[in-house]
Amino acid sequence: MCGIVAYIGSDQAMPLLLEGLKRLEYRGYDSAGLAVLSDDGEIKAVKTAGRVHVLEEQIESQGGLEGTIGIAHTRWATHGEPNNTNAHPHDDDKATGHGIKVVHNGIIENHNALKTLLLEQGHVFESETDTEVLAHLIGELYDGDLESAVQAALREVTGAYAIAVICSKEPGVIVAARKGAPLMVGVGGSEYIVASDSSAIVAHTNKAIDLENETVVKLTRDSFRTTTVENMPVSAKLMELEVKLEQIELGDFEHYMLKEIHEQPQAIRRCFKGRVDVESGRVVLGGIADFAPQLLKAKRIILLGQGTALHSCMVGEYIIEELAKIPVEVDYASEFRYRNPIIDEDTVVVAVSQSGETLDTLNATRESHQRGALTLGLVNVVGSTIARESDAGVYLRVGPEIGVASTKAFVGQLAAVTMLAVSLGRTRYLGEDATRELLQHMLAMPDHIQSVIDGSDGIRDVTAKYVDLENWLFLGRGSNFPVALEGALKLKEISYIHAEGMPAAEMKHGPIALIDKGMPVVVVATRNSQYEKVLSNIQEVRSRGGHVIAVATEGDAEIADLCEDVFYVPDVPETLQPMLTVVPLQLLAYHAAVLRGKDVDKPRNLAKSVTVE
Ligand code: M6R
Repeated sequence: MCGIVAYIGSDQAMPLLLEGLKRLEYRGYDSAGLAVLSDDGEIKAVKTAGRVHVLEEQIESQGGLEGTIGIAHTRWATHGEPNNTNAHPHDDDKATGHGIKVVHNGIIENHNALKTLLLEQGHVFESETDTEVLAHLIGELYDGDLESAVQAALREVTGAYAIAVICSKEPGVIVAARKGAPLMVGVGGSEYIVASDSSAIVAHTNKAIDLENETVVKLTRDSFRTTTVENMPVSAKLMELEVKLEQIELGDFEHYMLKEIHEQPQAIRRCFKGRVDVESGRVVLGGIADFAPQLLKAKRIILLGQGTALHSCMVGEYIIEELAKIPVEVDYASEFRYRNPIIDEDTVVVAVSQSGETLDTLNATRESHQRGALTLGLVNVVGSTIARESDAGVYLRVGPEIGVASTKAFVGQLAAVTMLAVSLGRTRYLGEDATRELLQHMLAMPDHIQSVIDGSDGIRDVTAKYVDLENWLFLGRGSNFPVALEGALKLKEISYIHAEGMPAAEMKHGPIALIDKGMPVVVVATRNSQYEKVLSNIQEVRSRGGHVIAVATEGDAEIADLCEDVFYVPDVPETLQPMLTVVPLQLLAYHAAVLRGKDVDKPRNLAKSVTVE
């Protein structure tokens, strides 16, 4: 995904756009660009491969850009490598001379067909991007009215987009539009800020219009108008932004990932607040209450996600089957949709996603809905597309997650799936007393997580011993198997160490061949129903020379004799262990990345959410 931001008002646009880009940089950081339109219709643009700070340096070296209207972009490359030419904004200049500049997040799927037509009409393209095709198309259709030209161009386009467009012939106008990609408009006194998300807006105003899907908005300094691409009026709701500035600031932390790991206790408290009621032995989930009859007759639950969210689904399978005794299937959302899945009206499909924008998960949700399933979203970002398009859902309430490596969203997803399991279980076999006991343990989880975080320095010291080794294994059994997968994902995505996660027993079926003195093996070995078996797996690793780092239950002296290093976590019921055992693995990955000098919050080749298939 990419980030876009645009400004129209009475202040200088450039500083505000740069600040917005910095806030949106987590969405993509392959290249950045900015264009400013002056009152006399002159557009000046600067764009470059690399980060926003590189763009800022280039703008400064050119003496700044003057103007009170502008558009800007930070890119995660899809079509064309991340170089200067492919950076946004793109324009129609050479073809039509209308001075149209476009920034775009999304993919124009029919760009090849459109490009062929435009080439026939004499257009010459500079970049390899789909966005340049859209800029030329708008230019081709421009007839003195930017709004109409954008509407007409978008009628020809298939795919997803959030765009902002300026034109040198209309110095007081920005036209923006969205379809399948997020976009909102911050509303100030006599200014508007268009942005991919609220993080680029909250420093200036807490009022915003969350644009409905498939809306075009025309902004002047003192007016806005929302329409469809067919120019039919669309109503626009003004809302108050929930995100507060301090939530998206780094504060005293060195990295967002570390900040978000530290926020986990508070995040879980918020997630449980007003929902977990020990006294009545119930979990109250307002977002799904209206669907109680359908949930009661559910014969099967399918959990879908990608990456870290998929790992939450895998943990969810254990928890829901244990507490609610409903058969659960888990799948990559990307695979599910293309295997002609069997779904009926007694199937509940749960889409798990931090951003609520992951295209694979969104498309799988849509497919499930079409096939008659009840769809629930376990989503963090309020008002995101999956949240809007699911029949019902549970918000994670963990606050904005900015680090590309997902941490607090993972524990929030586990908290939400546990509440869902309890609520389903209570309508079936889960007794009141057993529920009360579990709920009490749930409410104690924030303190337990805090105690693991407090041991961060010790985890760093252990990490330092092994950080130069290039291949790691992560093992776990039962619901700690997905935690092993998550530990491996965290390590590889931010430190670029090769790591594989697997069920501890699976190791004997091939991967054991890899084990030698150069391989750290992280084993989640907390006291639970699988404990003895995991100890045997540890022995198997040790006898082949592997270094074992165990995540174990406090007070387990036996394991300390067996392994080189141990990260202890408090003793909690098996169902709740993943919420805790993942924390030392997050810290291990974090410290490994810092020790190796990597860019923790912006790992190479990645973006915070993946809005392409
Ligand atoms: O926004 P989502 O939860 O749908 O994102 C899914 C994955 O792309 C995401 O969890 C990814 O794997 C994480 N950044 C990994 O830390």
